[in-house]
Amino acid sequence: MTSFDAAALAQAAIDARQQAYVPYSHFAVGAALLAEDGRVFTGCNVENAAYSVTNCAERTALFKAVSEGARTFRALAVAGAPQDTDPAGHLPACPPCGVCRQALFEFTGPQLPVVLALGGGAYETHTLGELLPHAFGPNDLL
Ligand code: THU
Repeated sequence: MTSFDAAALAQAAIDARQQAYVPYSHFAVGAALLAEDGRVFTGCNVENAAYSVTNCAERTALFKAVSEGARTFRALAVAGAPQDTDPAGHLPACPPCGVCRQALFEFTGPQLPVVLALGGGAYETHTLGELLPHAFGPNDLL
């Protein structure tokens, strides 16, 4: 894992959150995924009247990245809160859901730093392995 600017990645997630399409939950999430080559792929949650079709911000970012050829990643940042929350103030930590943890693990393994934006320039960082211990991944199929 190479170094990265966690505060800048958290801000990119906060910015991406503005695009969230959330007419049902009104809970807006943004994600920013830093690829090894330096590209940053952002995503937001995209909801649907058929609720289960909803795509989380993290998977939007991941699938954008993979579809554009990125396969290895340095870090992920996530920012999520009720839609009317001002990100200039405090944001609650918004950890990725279980489905997104599994989707990310496929490409990153357990070392990926996951930066949770807390607003006002603050953040906390966990590894994906902390969030998804004893994960099932590609090596388990060998
Ligand atoms: N959501 C995300 O986009 N990422 C998360 O980490 C947690 C949940 C979305 C899904 C749904 O649109 C809304 O937040 C409420 O669950």
